[in-house]
Amino acid sequence: RLPAPYQVPLPIPAIKEPVARRNGVTRYEIIQRTADVEILPGTRTTIMGYDGSFPGPTIRARRGERVVVRHRNRLPVPTVVHLHGGNTAAEDDGYPVDLVLPVRDADRFEHGGGSMGGGHAPMAMNGDVSHGFRDYHYDHDQQAATLWYHDHRMDFTGAQVWRGLAGFHLINDDVEDGLGLPHDERDIPLMLTDRSFAEDGSLLYPAADPQLVDKPGVTEDYASGVLGDVILVNGAPWPELEVEAARYRFRILNASNARRYQLQLDPPPPGGTAFTQVGSDAGLLAAPVKHGDLTIAAAERYDTIVDFSGYPVGTRVELRNALGSGRTAQVMRFTVARQAADDSTVPAKLAEIEPLNIAGAVHREWRFARKRTHGMTMWAINGKFFDPQRMDADPRLGRTEVWRFATDLHHPVHVHLSPFQVLSRNGHPPGPTDAGWKDTLDLRPTEYADVAIRFENHRGHYLMHCHNLEHEDMGMMSAFKVV
Ligand code: C2O
Ligand code: CU
Repeated sequence: RLPAPYQVPLPIPAIKEPVARRNGVTRYEIIQRTADVEILPGTRTTIMGYDGSFPGPTIRARRGERVVVRHRNRLPVPTVVHLHGGNTAAEDDGYPVDLVLPVRDADRFEHGGGSMGGGHAPMAMNGDVSHGFRDYHYDHDQQAATLWYHDHRMDFTGAQVWRGLAGFHLINDDVEDGLGLPHDERDIPLMLTDRSFAEDGSLLYPAADPQLVDKPGVTEDYASGVLGDVILVNGAPWPELEVEAARYRFRILNASNARRYQLQLDPPPPGGTAFTQVGSDAGLLAAPVKHGDLTIAAAERYDTIVDFSGYPVGTRVELRNALGSGRTAQVMRFTVARQAADDSTVPAKLAEIEPLNIAGAVHREWRFARKRTHGMTMWAINGKFFDPQRMDADPRLGRTEVWRFATDLHHPVHVHLSPFQVLSRNGHPPGPTDAGWKDTLDLRPTEYADVAIRFENHRGHYLMHCHNLEHEDMGMMSAFKVV
């Protein structure tokens, strides 16, 4: 009953048009609503989408551009919007209890809401709650990068992102413009997600509470994270893209709840390397890095160049996932349709990256591990479950710190506000996928990794968490306060 692969054309999410530009501020308005869309050919699926689409519309901004995005919540549940990778003021960062309530249901949700680990008074989290809409301010005081925005509601992020609340948010700057990388129709964001569908086309998510009102997380069998059997790229199942025999820039985002991918091209480019990475999560690399295959954990971004010019016209090139099996080993397919001129380049030097100086840095350690409580499997950091009122660290603005992440299993570790540089893994030099400015680290079983981080521009409360969204919803999140 799964659709045949490579039948649906790759959708490219629409670029969002502003509603106004005045006084140096660009304003957008996004309506969060349900919509019936065709994901599997011939069936309708109800999603929760930004502007009713999945992925949501892409926001494009320039470095330094002041932007306000008004999000209106017309969904039946509270939401929270986080700009992943954004250097954002605390009140605009989408703290998980800063709910935007659907207008009609304000009463219901102000007194309900989940709480972890028992013992909390209902809704003890006292967030900064808005009714119906909220304006999120971004000043983009950061370099060109592939960011994304997604839901971050406490206890329900996994369920709400699964239903469709995710979109791209791209920042450009002069450095990037000067490089001559592939652009316009050869600069394509690819959002990878896996999903499961019921017979009637509805999205299947094993939420502990299908109404998404009270009970957080998923049940025991799914505690490791929810995987789907259909691979979607930009919301389409195993899509197909016609390309010219030229270089393309693919901004690959793994927006899956829990799945990791090891991406490969089949056949690989004759005489070349599959992926030339030019950027990481939070910006351009200092110099390109070549990868024969690319392992991408949840929430990571790899900004890559793929050169199709070595393939004979007519070649069909599969993007495959070596960590999958059967249909989850397939991702999408490119068909090299024709020869074409190509004015793009991939310069040997991309951007200036200042190595963070760790002399005299404060060191902190964060242990990611499973923990059982009330007979349930949950996920904890340093033995504690998330509590939005508790601050677990107080880094100083502008001072470099060294954070050690240690783990039992796979956990993609994400830090809000500022990116980091990977210093080492298990005491060894970082690997090829660790280059540049990262905001999410693919932490592998039993591993520890040291990163250098310096929080810039904003004080206040922020998050650090596992980006396996089920782990996140089941406690594996920690708050810190930049002072
Ligand atoms: Cu992409 Cu705290 O999240
Ligand atoms: Cu995890």
